[in-house]
Amino acid sequence: MFRRRKISKVLTNGLLVLYMLSSSSGSFAKEGMWIPATLKAREKDMQAMGLQIPVDRLYNETGTGLNNAVVLFGRGCTGEVISPQGLILTNHHCGYGSVQGISSTDKDYFANGFFAKNQNEEIPCPGLTVTFIRRMENVTDKILNKKTDTLPENLRDSIILKNILATEQEFKKITHLDATIKSYFEGNQYWVAITETYKDIRLVGFPPNGIGAFGGDVENWMWPRHTGDFSMFRIYADKDNKPAAFATSNQPYHADQYFKINSSGYKEGDFTMVYGFPGTTQEYISSYELKQVYNISDPISIAARTRKLDVWSKHMTGSRENFLKYTSKRAGVANGWKKWQGEVKGLQLNNVIAKKQAFEQSFRKWAEQQKDNEQLKTLLPQLKKEAESVDNLIEQDQYNKEAVLGIELIQQGASFENLINCFRLNLSKEALADTLNKQIKGWAGFYKNYDSATDKDVFISLMVLYFNKCAAWMPEYCKTEYKNHIQDIAKWANDIYGNSMIASYDKLKAFGSNVQPADSSKLLADPAWRLYDAINTVRKQKIIKVLKDYNSKMRSLNRLYMKSQMQMQNKQTFYPNANLTLRLAYGPVKGLDPDGPAKYSFQTTLGETVALDDSTSDIFRVPKKLKELYRTKDYGRWGVNGTMPLAFLAANHTSGGNSGSPVLNARGELIGTNFDRAYEGTMSDYYFDPSRCRNISVDIRYTLFIVDKFGDAGWLIDEMDIVQKK
Ligand code: ARG
Ligand code: GLU
Repeated sequence: MFRRRKISKVLTNGLLVLYMLSSSSGSFAKEGMWIPATLKAREKDMQAMGLQIPVDRLYNETGTGLNNAVVLFGRGCTGEVISPQGLILTNHHCGYGSVQGISSTDKDYFANGFFAKNQNEEIPCPGLTVTFIRRMENVTDKILNKKTDTLPENLRDSIILKNILATEQEFKKITHLDATIKSYFEGNQYWVAITETYKDIRLVGFPPNGIGAFGGDVENWMWPRHTGDFSMFRIYADKDNKPAAFATSNQPYHADQYFKINSSGYKEGDFTMVYGFPGTTQEYISSYELKQVYNISDPISIAARTRKLDVWSKHMTGSRENFLKYTSKRAGVANGWKKWQGEVKGLQLNNVIAKKQAFEQSFRKWAEQQKDNEQLKTLLPQLKKEAESVDNLIEQDQYNKEAVLGIELIQQGASFENLINCFRLNLSKEALADTLNKQIKGWAGFYKNYDSATDKDVFISLMVLYFNKCAAWMPEYCKTEYKNHIQDIAKWANDIYGNSMIASYDKLKAFGSNVQPADSSKLLADPAWRLYDAINTVRKQKIIKVLKDYNSKMRSLNRLYMKSQMQMQNKQTFYPNANLTLRLAYGPVKGLDPDGPAKYSFQTTLGETVALDDSTSDIFRVPKKLKELYRTKDYGRWGVNGTMPLAFLAANHTSGGNSGSPVLNARGELIGTNFDRAYEGTMSDYYFDPSRCRNISVDIRYTLFIVDKFGDAGWLIDEMDIVQKK
């Protein structure tokens, strides 16, 4: 909302608001995640800050742009192509789930790492995909027209959806590729992305957790940082270089566009870019919705997850089996948990709600002056009224989602319902057994990573939270159970986990192996199911329905609010909120001193990592071999005057989904891989403050050093294109 416009002073009584246009001086951090196809309009600004190549090189529609070297990795990360043979670099934590799928106590890649010695050793990762964005086009005219502007919201939605599907089909026919249309600027614009998704992706290199996840949750979202958060994969394609399902006959993908690597480093102030797929930001929302995040959703999620993580940690510490079951899930849950803490702190330190309120005052004044537009004048009061009307529902549902459905056993209720539905089909005994057992088989993945003793302790901890906070909204079933068990929730947990079929795969399989058409009553009586069903029914009837209407109203109000903000500040170029489409951010390498003159450096080194070594800690234990390389200063071509650079800070506007993104220098050469943001700066999803917001990257030289010296995989370096000049 405040792009290129910085509120320099806000008196909290809101009477005096002084806006100042910030200069676009080269040393400033830059707000914005830009659609690559619109970069022409940024070119001058980027060049003034240091860009040395034409923006056409970054993106064009003839196949020669660097957009063809960036991929959406999996469903929510970014990766970059770094060799003509389809080698991809991304984060360790982006490969984590796939690596878990191919790890076991025998092949413990988390403990030992993995570096293929040649292409034959690369390991297929079922389910993993990467997607290229070949081209983007503004198709707003095909999706919206005069008619859509005046229709009621649900009619409008259905016409837009029809237009989207038809237009996607047109593009697919013309291009013979995939086409996806998404909304930008809260439904004021639509863009199509022409994409290609490769499905045979193989693991090439993965450092052990002692490098790739070093510092764990303690260092996560923090600076200084010592994590070698990278991993490498390779794209395989059919004989025509096209996407294909896994086949041994597939060949490494031949890449015309890949990133050259620059291993000569950078200094503070140098121009950088981050090219990738930021997931969700809400820079333009009103203070009323931001208050919901700040006062309701974030604090509840933090409280619930604190409890869950405590229990998980306890159970993971003593058992390698439990560790392997929960490590990926834990990383995901802990990641949000800590991010929201940083976010709340950042929003508070920066008085973001007051800043939004101040902006809203000037918006109101502007709206007053717009002739014949009653809707504009009532827009903010309407947004306020709508938002405040659902505050309590949002609170309740956050407890439902994070506390009750945060218990794995209860969450499985949704799948359990599918089993119950099998009985509603009136099938013959054989057909019933067949359908049901197919479903039960599908639960194997869940049980591979499930420990019911762990989950039972989570249940005890989270149900206490729910009971304490949600008495007013509890379904009858819960109230009764609550009355019966408040003295002894552990006993209740024993009953449920002892009797529920969901808690034990053996019980569930035994049920399936001898199922009779009359057995549905056994499922319906399952205590975990009954709890899920009670909560879910109330949720559906009393909460979801209302929130659906609310969201639909807010979509329409926010569409107008967005459009009006752009009209009000028509001298500025706006960037759309993140929506997991390809974006480019740019900004300088820059250190961080959030609390005053004690300036943190913009860079960390291996030496600092070794100084943190703690053999008694799971997350701060430096691998022996790495310590040896440090002791002998055996850094190969990658060290600088006896030190090994590790991670660095820059002031780019990034978000979740930018993990694994290429970090480029002024010539578009790779100098690092983005993997995080600094704590309070995570508020940039709502408000980008150049003095606090930083992205954190692994230095490419550290990545190459680990591949080369720790992983003994010099053959990978040989296929890369490494330039050394400054
Ligand atoms: N915070 C980073 C991101 O959002 C890294 C997460 C992985 N690391 C961790 N310790 N959980 O993805
Ligand atoms: N680690 C994040 C991710 O998975 C990126 C950091 C961020 O949110 O900026 O995308």
